[in-house]
Amino acid sequence: MEFFLDTADVDEIREIAAWGILDGVTTNPSLIKKSGRDFKEVVREIANICSGPISAEVTAMDTAGMLQQARQLKSELPENVIIKIPCTPEGLAATKVLTDEGIDTNVTLIFSTSQALMAAKAGATYVSPFIGRIDDTGHDGMNLIAEIMETWSKYDITTKVLAASIRHPTHMLQCMQLGAHTATMPAKIFKQLMTHPLTDRGLEGFMRDWAEVEAAGNA
Ligand code: G3P
Repeated sequence: MEFFLDTADVDEIREIAAWGILDGVTTNPSLIKKSGRDFKEVVREIANICSGPISAEVTAMDTAGMLQQARQLKSELPENVIIKIPCTPEGLAATKVLTDEGIDTNVTLIFSTSQALMAAKAGATYVSPFIGRIDDTGHDGMNLIAEIMETWSKYDITTKVLAASIRHPTHMLQCMQLGAHTATMPAKIFKQLMTHPLTDRGLEGFMRDWAEVEAAGNA
């Protein structure tokens, strides 16, 4: 499974990339706003920190505008930048054209299996169903991942399912159990997945005892 970071904060990306297990980064217009930085400048920096796919989102609402932005991003930014496109009819048309041009895409804001299938049919490299935002409406976002994976299993679909809007470690673990290809998470969830109070307590004990071994001249 691919582990992506969902942020435009380069300090966070450097920190998690140093762990050696970061496969890619996703951004969106809200995350770019939060970074307070120039869009292309920050995406370029991210793409130089992490060699995996870096999603940069188009903001035009029409197909021609999306294509123009996508081609410009591809020409100006590092090779590993891929194009994030909203799941609209205009976005679907743009996805098909970009796929035919050999440009990788991530179709975002997916809230139903039918949307995921339409994006896959257009040749999307990734589809991004938003789990947490479905949970926010009082429904279970994980059911969407289960339904998409079940549907994918009936066909030879190469589009990867990129679980997004992940709010807690259990979301992530359930995505893995369901066979999602990729998950994008905030840095906080990477840290929650990695830490355990008993690891910290155990290490403290080992270090305390080792200090006594050293003090006794036995190290
Ligand atoms: O990449 C977009 C997605 O992960 C957004 O998450 O927490 O804003 O619903 P959230």
